[in-house]
Amino acid sequence: MGEAVRVLDVALGERSYPIRIGSGLLDNPAPLLAALGRRRAFVVTNETVAPLYLGRVLAGLRANGVDVSAVVLPDGEAHKDWTTLNLIYDALLSGMAERSTTLVALGGGVIGDMTGFAAATYQRGVPFIQIPTTLLSQVDSSVGGKTAINHPLGKNMIGAFYQPKLVLADIATLNTLPDRELKAGLAEVIKYGLIRDLTFFEWLESNVERLLARDSSALAEAVERSCRNKAEVVAADETEQGERATLNLGHTFGHAIETGMGYGVWLHGEAVAAGTIMAAALSRMLGWLSEADTARIAQLFARVGLPVQGAPLGADRYLELMRHDKKVADGQLRLVLLKAIGRAVVSSEANEAQIRAAIEACGG
Ligand code: NAD
Ligand code: GLY
Repeated sequence: MGEAVRVLDVALGERSYPIRIGSGLLDNPAPLLAALGRRRAFVVTNETVAPLYLGRVLAGLRANGVDVSAVVLPDGEAHKDWTTLNLIYDALLSGMAERSTTLVALGGGVIGDMTGFAAATYQRGVPFIQIPTTLLSQVDSSVGGKTAINHPLGKNMIGAFYQPKLVLADIATLNTLPDRELKAGLAEVIKYGLIRDLTFFEWLESNVERLLARDSSALAEAVERSCRNKAEVVAADETEQGERATLNLGHTFGHAIETGMGYGVWLHGEAVAAGTIMAAALSRMLGWLSEADTARIAQLFARVGLPVQGAPLGADRYLELMRHDKKVADGQLRLVLLKAIGRAVVSSEANEAQIRAAIEACGG
Protein backbone atom coordinates (compact mmCIF):
# COMPACT_ATOMS: atom_id res chain seq x y z
CA MET A 1 0.00 0.00 0.00
CA GLY A 2 1.32 3.48 -0.92
CA GLU A 3 0.30 6.70 0.81
CA ALA A 4 -2.65 7.10 3.15
CA VAL A 5 -6.10 6.54 1.73
CA ARG A 6 -8.01 9.76 1.13
CA VAL A 7 -11.74 9.46 1.88
CA LEU A 8 -14.44 11.91 0.78
CA ASP A 9 -18.18 11.75 1.25
CA VAL A 10 -20.87 12.42 -1.31
CA ALA A 11 -23.52 13.83 1.00
CA LEU A 12 -26.92 12.73 -0.25
CA GLY A 13 -28.77 11.89 2.97
CA GLU A 14 -29.47 8.20 3.27
CA ARG A 15 -27.94 7.64 -0.19
CA SER A 16 -24.60 9.17 0.86
CA TYR A 17 -21.49 7.20 -0.04
CA PRO A 18 -17.72 7.35 0.34
CA ILE A 19 -15.11 7.89 -2.35
CA ARG A 20 -11.86 6.17 -1.38
CA ILE A 21 -8.72 7.33 -3.22
CA GLY A 22 -5.29 5.76 -2.88
CA SER A 23 -2.63 3.54 -4.35
CA GLY A 24 -3.06 -0.23 -4.10
CA LEU A 25 -6.72 -0.21 -3.03
CA LEU A 26 -7.50 -3.22 -5.23
CA ASP A 27 -5.47 -5.39 -2.86
CA ASN A 28 -7.63 -4.50 0.15
CA PRO A 29 -11.13 -5.97 -0.25
CA ALA A 30 -12.35 -4.78 3.19
CA PRO A 31 -14.21 -1.60 2.02
CA LEU A 32 -15.71 -3.56 -0.85
CA LEU A 33 -16.92 -6.28 1.49
CA ALA A 34 -18.38 -3.68 3.85
CA ALA A 35 -20.32 -2.10 0.97
CA LEU A 36 -21.71 -5.41 -0.33
CA GLY A 37 -25.06 -5.83 1.35
CA ARG A 38 -25.26 -9.54 0.53
CA ARG A 39 -22.53 -11.96 -0.40
CA ARG A 40 -23.41 -12.07 -4.09
CA ALA A 41 -21.90 -9.86 -6.77
CA PHE A 42 -21.32 -9.51 -10.51
CA VAL A 43 -18.21 -7.65 -11.64
CA VAL A 44 -18.74 -5.96 -15.02
CA THR A 45 -15.59 -5.09 -16.93
CA ASN A 46 -14.21 -5.23 -20.48
CA GLU A 47 -11.72 -7.20 -22.54
CA THR A 48 -8.90 -4.69 -21.89
CA VAL A 49 -9.32 -4.25 -18.15
CA ALA A 50 -10.11 -7.89 -17.34
CA PRO A 51 -6.59 -9.26 -17.92
CA LEU A 52 -5.12 -6.39 -15.89
CA TYR A 53 -7.31 -6.21 -12.79
CA LEU A 54 -10.25 -8.61 -12.76
CA GLY A 55 -8.32 -11.50 -11.19
CA ARG A 56 -7.31 -9.42 -8.17
CA VAL A 57 -10.84 -8.17 -7.55
CA LEU A 58 -12.37 -11.63 -7.90
CA ALA A 59 -9.68 -13.25 -5.70
CA GLY A 60 -10.18 -10.69 -2.91
CA LEU A 61 -13.94 -11.25 -2.90
CA ARG A 62 -13.84 -15.03 -3.23
CA ALA A 63 -11.28 -15.36 -0.43
CA ASN A 64 -13.88 -13.69 1.77
CA GLY A 65 -16.76 -15.93 0.82
CA VAL A 66 -18.45 -13.75 -1.80
CA ASP A 67 -20.21 -15.63 -4.62
CA VAL A 68 -18.98 -13.51 -7.52
CA SER A 69 -19.30 -13.81 -11.32
CA ALA A 70 -17.70 -11.73 -14.04
CA VAL A 71 -19.23 -10.16 -17.15
CA VAL A 72 -16.61 -9.19 -19.73
CA LEU A 73 -17.85 -6.79 -22.41
CA PRO A 74 -16.25 -5.61 -25.64
CA ASP A 75 -14.18 -2.46 -25.17
CA GLY A 76 -14.98 0.98 -26.53
CA GLU A 77 -17.35 3.92 -26.70
CA ALA A 78 -18.87 2.37 -29.84
CA HIS A 79 -20.17 -0.45 -27.61
CA LYS A 80 -21.92 1.85 -25.13
CA ASP A 81 -25.24 0.79 -26.60
CA TRP A 82 -28.32 -1.41 -26.18
CA THR A 83 -26.68 -4.48 -27.66
CA THR A 84 -23.84 -4.46 -25.15
CA LEU A 85 -26.08 -3.42 -22.26
CA ASN A 86 -28.20 -6.48 -23.03
CA LEU A 87 -25.15 -8.69 -22.47
CA ILE A 88 -25.18 -7.52 -18.83
CA TYR A 89 -28.89 -8.34 -18.44
CA ASP A 90 -28.30 -11.72 -20.15
CA ALA A 91 -25.58 -12.59 -17.63
CA LEU A 92 -27.64 -11.41 -14.66
CA LEU A 93 -30.71 -13.37 -15.72
CA SER A 94 -28.91 -16.54 -16.69
CA GLY A 95 -26.86 -16.31 -13.48
CA MET A 96 -30.05 -15.87 -11.41
CA ALA A 97 -28.97 -12.49 -10.01
CA GLU A 98 -31.40 -11.28 -7.37
CA ARG A 99 -32.53 -7.86 -6.20
CA SER A 100 -29.88 -7.94 -3.47
CA THR A 101 -27.04 -8.84 -5.86
CA THR A 102 -24.47 -6.04 -6.21
CA LEU A 103 -23.07 -4.96 -9.58
CA VAL A 104 -19.44 -3.83 -9.48
CA ALA A 105 -18.20 -1.67 -12.38
CA LEU A 106 -14.49 -2.26 -12.98
CA GLY A 107 -13.17 -0.04 -15.76
CA GLY A 108 -13.45 3.40 -17.29
CA GLY A 109 -16.45 5.63 -17.79
CA VAL A 110 -17.99 3.44 -20.48
CA ILE A 111 -18.15 0.44 -18.15
CA GLY A 112 -19.22 2.63 -15.21
CA ASP A 113 -22.03 4.33 -17.14
CA MET A 114 -23.36 1.05 -18.59
CA THR A 115 -23.09 -0.94 -15.37
CA GLY A 116 -24.77 1.86 -13.47
CA PHE A 117 -27.64 1.89 -15.95
CA ALA A 118 -27.94 -1.89 -15.73
CA ALA A 119 -28.00 -1.59 -11.91
CA ALA A 120 -30.65 1.15 -12.07
CA THR A 121 -32.92 -0.95 -14.25
CA TYR A 122 -32.33 -4.64 -13.44
CA GLN A 123 -35.30 -5.70 -11.31
CA ARG A 124 -35.99 -1.93 -10.92
CA GLY A 125 -32.72 -1.36 -9.12
CA VAL A 126 -29.91 -3.34 -7.51
CA PRO A 127 -26.94 -2.03 -5.48
CA PHE A 128 -23.82 -1.00 -7.34
CA ILE A 129 -20.20 -0.07 -6.70
CA GLN A 130 -17.77 1.84 -8.89
CA ILE A 131 -14.11 0.82 -9.25
CA PRO A 132 -12.94 3.38 -11.84
CA THR A 133 -9.65 2.58 -13.56
CA THR A 134 -9.16 5.58 -15.88
CA LEU A 135 -8.30 9.09 -14.77
CA LEU A 136 -11.48 10.38 -16.35
CA SER A 137 -13.66 7.92 -14.48
CA GLN A 138 -11.83 8.51 -11.18
CA VAL A 139 -12.31 12.28 -11.35
CA ASP A 140 -15.72 12.44 -12.92
CA SER A 141 -17.92 9.65 -14.23
CA SER A 142 -17.80 7.31 -11.20
CA VAL A 143 -19.07 10.06 -8.89
CA GLY A 144 -22.54 11.54 -8.96
CA GLY A 145 -24.78 8.81 -10.29
CA LYS A 146 -25.21 9.71 -13.95
CA THR A 147 -25.58 6.49 -15.90
CA ALA A 148 -26.33 6.11 -19.60
CA ILE A 149 -25.86 4.52 -22.97
CA ASN A 150 -25.54 6.35 -26.29
CA HIS A 151 -28.07 6.55 -29.11
CA PRO A 152 -26.91 6.94 -32.72
CA LEU A 153 -28.53 10.39 -32.67
CA GLY A 154 -27.03 11.56 -29.39
CA LYS A 155 -24.55 10.83 -26.61
CA ASN A 156 -25.78 9.54 -23.26
CA MET A 157 -29.39 10.07 -24.32
CA ILE A 158 -30.80 6.98 -22.57
CA GLY A 159 -30.02 6.77 -18.88
CA ALA A 160 -30.90 7.35 -15.25
CA PHE A 161 -29.62 9.03 -12.11
CA TYR A 162 -28.55 6.18 -9.86
CA GLN A 163 -25.95 6.55 -7.13
CA PRO A 164 -23.36 3.89 -6.25
CA LYS A 165 -22.78 2.65 -2.69
CA LEU A 166 -19.02 3.18 -2.88
CA VAL A 167 -16.39 4.56 -5.25
CA LEU A 168 -12.94 2.97 -5.02
CA ALA A 169 -10.30 4.86 -7.02
CA ASP A 170 -7.02 2.96 -7.05
CA ILE A 171 -4.44 5.42 -8.40
CA ALA A 172 -2.05 2.55 -9.17
CA THR A 173 -4.36 1.37 -11.96
CA LEU A 174 -3.47 4.56 -13.85
CA ASN A 175 0.02 3.17 -14.45
CA THR A 176 -1.29 0.94 -17.23
CA LEU A 177 -3.42 3.63 -18.85
CA PRO A 178 -2.31 4.69 -22.36
CA ASP A 179 -0.92 8.25 -22.49
CA ARG A 180 -3.73 9.41 -24.74
CA GLU A 181 -6.31 8.28 -22.15
CA LEU A 182 -4.42 9.95 -19.29
CA LYS A 183 -4.43 13.22 -21.20
CA ALA A 184 -8.13 12.87 -21.99
CA GLY A 185 -8.81 12.47 -18.26
CA LEU A 186 -6.92 15.69 -17.55
CA ALA A 187 -9.50 17.59 -19.62
CA GLU A 188 -12.14 16.83 -16.98
CA VAL A 189 -9.66 17.68 -14.19
CA ILE A 190 -8.99 21.11 -15.73
CA LYS A 191 -12.75 21.57 -16.04
CA TYR A 192 -13.16 21.77 -12.24
CA GLY A 193 -10.59 24.55 -12.05
CA LEU A 194 -12.32 26.43 -14.82
CA ILE A 195 -15.87 26.19 -13.52
CA ARG A 196 -15.38 26.79 -9.79
CA ASP A 197 -11.85 26.48 -8.40
CA LEU A 198 -9.27 29.05 -9.54
CA THR A 199 -6.78 27.84 -6.89
CA PHE A 200 -6.98 24.33 -8.34
CA PHE A 201 -6.50 25.71 -11.87
CA GLU A 202 -3.34 27.47 -10.65
CA TRP A 203 -2.17 24.25 -8.96
CA LEU A 204 -2.68 22.45 -12.27
CA GLU A 205 -0.63 25.05 -14.11
CA SER A 206 2.21 24.36 -11.66
CA ASN A 207 1.86 20.58 -11.61
CA VAL A 208 0.91 19.51 -15.12
CA GLU A 209 4.31 17.92 -15.82
CA ARG A 210 4.12 15.83 -12.62
CA LEU A 211 0.69 14.62 -13.64
CA LEU A 212 1.86 13.70 -17.13
CA ALA A 213 4.78 11.81 -15.55
CA ARG A 214 2.23 9.90 -13.42
CA ASP A 215 3.63 11.06 -10.09
CA SER A 216 1.30 9.16 -7.79
CA SER A 217 0.99 11.83 -5.11
CA ALA A 218 0.20 14.48 -7.75
CA LEU A 219 -2.38 12.16 -9.30
CA ALA A 220 -3.96 11.42 -5.91
CA GLU A 221 -4.08 15.15 -5.18
CA ALA A 222 -5.72 15.87 -8.56
CA VAL A 223 -8.24 13.06 -8.11
CA GLU A 224 -9.10 14.18 -4.59
CA ARG A 225 -9.50 17.86 -5.49
CA SER A 226 -11.59 16.96 -8.55
CA CYS A 227 -13.81 14.58 -6.58
CA ARG A 228 -14.21 17.15 -3.79
CA ASN A 229 -15.50 19.67 -6.34
CA LYS A 230 -17.76 17.12 -7.96
CA ALA A 231 -19.11 15.84 -4.63
CA GLU A 232 -19.97 19.39 -3.53
CA VAL A 233 -21.83 20.12 -6.77
CA VAL A 234 -23.70 16.80 -6.74
CA ALA A 235 -24.67 17.18 -3.07
CA ALA A 236 -26.13 20.61 -3.87
CA ASP A 237 -27.89 19.63 -7.10
CA GLU A 238 -28.12 15.87 -7.65
CA THR A 239 -30.48 15.87 -10.63
CA GLU A 240 -29.10 18.91 -12.46
CA GLN A 241 -31.76 21.49 -11.79
CA GLY A 242 -29.11 24.21 -11.62
CA GLU A 243 -25.41 24.26 -10.69
CA ARG A 244 -24.68 20.69 -11.79
CA ALA A 245 -25.09 21.75 -15.41
CA THR A 246 -21.83 23.70 -15.08
CA LEU A 247 -20.03 20.32 -14.92
CA ASN A 248 -20.85 20.12 -18.61
CA LEU A 249 -18.48 22.91 -19.62
CA GLY A 250 -17.36 22.14 -23.17
CA HIS A 251 -19.68 19.13 -23.37
CA THR A 252 -22.38 20.50 -25.67
CA PHE A 253 -19.75 21.27 -28.32
CA GLY A 254 -17.81 18.13 -27.33
CA HIS A 255 -20.76 15.76 -27.63
CA ALA A 256 -21.36 17.16 -31.12
CA ILE A 257 -17.78 16.20 -32.01
CA GLU A 258 -18.13 12.71 -30.54
CA THR A 259 -21.44 12.00 -32.25
CA GLY A 260 -20.50 13.76 -35.49
CA MET A 261 -17.16 11.96 -35.87
CA GLY A 262 -18.57 8.55 -34.81
CA TYR A 263 -18.32 7.30 -31.24
CA GLY A 264 -14.75 6.45 -30.25
CA VAL A 265 -12.95 8.42 -32.97
CA TRP A 266 -12.32 11.34 -30.63
CA LEU A 267 -11.98 10.39 -26.96
CA HIS A 268 -14.56 12.01 -24.69
CA GLY A 269 -11.90 14.08 -22.89
CA GLU A 270 -10.41 15.24 -26.19
CA ALA A 271 -13.82 16.39 -27.40
CA VAL A 272 -14.42 18.14 -24.06
CA ALA A 273 -11.07 19.96 -24.40
CA ALA A 274 -11.89 21.25 -27.88
CA GLY A 275 -15.43 22.05 -26.73
CA THR A 276 -14.07 24.03 -23.79
CA ILE A 277 -11.89 26.06 -26.15
CA MET A 278 -15.07 26.86 -28.13
CA ALA A 279 -16.94 27.79 -24.94
CA ALA A 280 -14.03 30.03 -23.93
CA ALA A 281 -13.99 31.68 -27.37
CA LEU A 282 -17.72 32.35 -27.10
CA SER A 283 -17.29 33.73 -23.57
CA ARG A 284 -14.61 36.02 -24.96
CA MET A 285 -16.95 37.18 -27.78
CA LEU A 286 -19.61 38.02 -25.18
CA GLY A 287 -17.04 40.20 -23.43
CA TRP A 288 -16.97 38.02 -20.31
CA LEU A 289 -13.58 36.36 -20.45
CA SER A 290 -10.44 38.45 -20.97
CA GLU A 291 -8.13 37.86 -23.92
CA ALA A 292 -5.39 36.86 -21.47
CA ASP A 293 -7.54 34.28 -19.66
CA THR A 294 -8.80 32.85 -22.97
CA ALA A 295 -5.18 32.31 -24.03
CA ARG A 296 -4.24 30.95 -20.60
CA ILE A 297 -6.90 28.23 -20.90
CA ALA A 298 -5.69 27.19 -24.35
CA GLN A 299 -2.10 27.13 -23.08
CA LEU A 300 -2.92 24.65 -20.31
CA PHE A 301 -4.77 22.31 -22.69
CA ALA A 302 -1.89 22.58 -25.16
CA ARG A 303 0.69 21.75 -22.46
CA VAL A 304 -1.27 18.58 -21.68
CA GLY A 305 -1.30 17.72 -25.39
CA LEU A 306 -5.07 18.03 -25.74
CA PRO A 307 -6.77 19.42 -28.88
CA VAL A 308 -7.26 23.17 -28.95
CA GLN A 309 -9.09 23.03 -32.29
CA GLY A 310 -12.41 21.32 -32.96
CA ALA A 311 -13.20 18.59 -35.50
CA PRO A 312 -13.98 20.18 -38.91
CA LEU A 313 -17.65 19.16 -39.06
CA GLY A 314 -18.88 22.56 -40.21
CA ALA A 315 -20.92 24.90 -38.03
CA ASP A 316 -24.28 23.69 -39.46
CA ARG A 317 -23.58 20.12 -38.38
CA TYR A 318 -22.40 21.26 -34.94
CA LEU A 319 -25.59 23.25 -34.44
CA GLU A 320 -27.76 20.37 -35.62
CA LEU A 321 -26.08 17.98 -33.17
CA MET A 322 -26.03 20.52 -30.34
CA ARG A 323 -29.82 20.86 -30.52
CA HIS A 324 -30.01 17.31 -29.09
CA ASP A 325 -28.23 18.44 -25.93
CA LYS A 326 -29.94 17.68 -22.63
CA LYS A 327 -29.58 21.32 -21.59
CA VAL A 328 -31.87 22.48 -24.41
CA ALA A 329 -34.98 23.90 -22.72
CA ASP A 330 -38.12 24.97 -24.64
CA GLY A 331 -36.10 24.61 -27.83
CA GLN A 332 -33.52 27.12 -26.58
CA LEU A 333 -29.84 26.15 -26.58
CA ARG A 334 -28.27 26.74 -23.15
CA LEU A 335 -24.49 26.64 -22.89
CA VAL A 336 -22.01 26.55 -20.06
CA LEU A 337 -19.84 29.63 -20.46
CA LEU A 338 -17.16 31.34 -18.40
CA LYS A 339 -17.40 34.70 -16.69
CA ALA A 340 -13.81 34.18 -15.53
CA ILE A 341 -11.43 31.31 -14.79
CA GLY A 342 -13.11 29.67 -11.81
CA ARG A 343 -16.60 31.00 -12.55
CA ALA A 344 -18.98 29.25 -14.95
CA VAL A 345 -22.57 30.14 -15.78
CA VAL A 346 -25.32 28.41 -17.75
CA SER A 347 -26.56 30.90 -20.30
CA SER A 348 -28.73 31.26 -23.36
CA GLU A 349 -27.37 34.73 -24.03
CA ALA A 350 -25.26 33.77 -27.03
CA ASN A 351 -27.19 33.99 -30.30
CA GLU A 352 -26.80 31.54 -33.16
CA ALA A 353 -24.47 33.81 -35.13
CA GLN A 354 -22.13 34.11 -32.16
CA ILE A 355 -22.14 30.35 -31.52
CA ARG A 356 -21.43 29.78 -35.20
CA ALA A 357 -18.58 32.29 -35.09
CA ALA A 358 -17.04 30.61 -32.03
CA ILE A 359 -17.19 27.19 -33.69
CA GLU A 360 -15.60 28.54 -36.86
CA ALA A 361 -12.92 30.47 -34.94
CA CYS A 362 -11.87 27.19 -33.32
CA GLY A 363 -11.56 25.15 -36.50
CA GLY A 364 -15.04 23.57 -36.34
P1 NAD B 1 -13.30 4.32 -21.44
O1 NAD B 1 -14.20 3.75 -20.43
O2 NAD B 1 -13.57 4.01 -22.87
O3 NAD B 1 -11.81 3.91 -21.08
C1 NAD B 1 -10.76 4.32 -21.91
C2 NAD B 1 -9.90 3.15 -22.40
O4 NAD B 1 -9.01 2.78 -21.35
C3 NAD B 1 -10.68 1.90 -22.74
O5 NAD B 1 -10.07 1.27 -23.84
C4 NAD B 1 -10.53 1.05 -21.49
O6 NAD B 1 -10.71 -0.32 -21.72
C5 NAD B 1 -9.12 1.37 -21.10
N1 NAD B 1 -8.78 1.20 -19.70
C6 NAD B 1 -9.55 1.41 -18.62
N2 NAD B 1 -8.81 1.32 -17.50
C7 NAD B 1 -7.55 1.01 -17.90
C8 NAD B 1 -6.34 0.81 -17.21
N3 NAD B 1 -6.26 0.99 -15.88
N4 NAD B 1 -5.24 0.48 -17.91
C9 NAD B 1 -5.30 0.38 -19.26
N5 NAD B 1 -6.41 0.59 -19.97
C10 NAD B 1 -7.52 0.92 -19.30
O7 NAD B 1 -13.27 5.92 -21.36
P2 NAD B 1 -13.25 6.93 -20.13
O8 NAD B 1 -12.50 8.09 -20.61
O9 NAD B 1 -12.88 6.29 -18.87
O10 NAD B 1 -14.80 7.32 -20.00
C11 NAD B 1 -15.47 7.98 -21.04
C12 NAD B 1 -16.94 7.75 -20.88
O11 NAD B 1 -17.38 8.30 -19.64
C13 NAD B 1 -17.77 8.39 -21.96
O12 NAD B 1 -18.73 7.47 -22.42
C14 NAD B 1 -18.45 9.54 -21.26
O13 NAD B 1 -19.69 9.86 -21.80
C15 NAD B 1 -18.58 9.02 -19.87
N6 NAD B 1 -18.68 10.06 -18.84
C16 NAD B 1 -19.67 9.93 -17.93
C17 NAD B 1 -19.77 10.84 -16.91
C18 NAD B 1 -20.81 10.67 -15.85
O14 NAD B 1 -21.01 11.56 -15.05
N7 NAD B 1 -21.45 9.52 -15.79
C19 NAD B 1 -18.87 11.90 -16.82
C20 NAD B 1 -17.86 12.00 -17.77
C21 NAD B 1 -17.77 11.06 -18.79
N1 GLY C 1 -20.22 14.86 -16.00
C1 GLY C 1 -21.27 15.75 -15.67
C2 GLY C 1 -22.03 15.39 -14.45
O1 GLY C 1 -21.77 14.42 -13.79
O2 GLY C 1 -22.95 16.06 -14.12
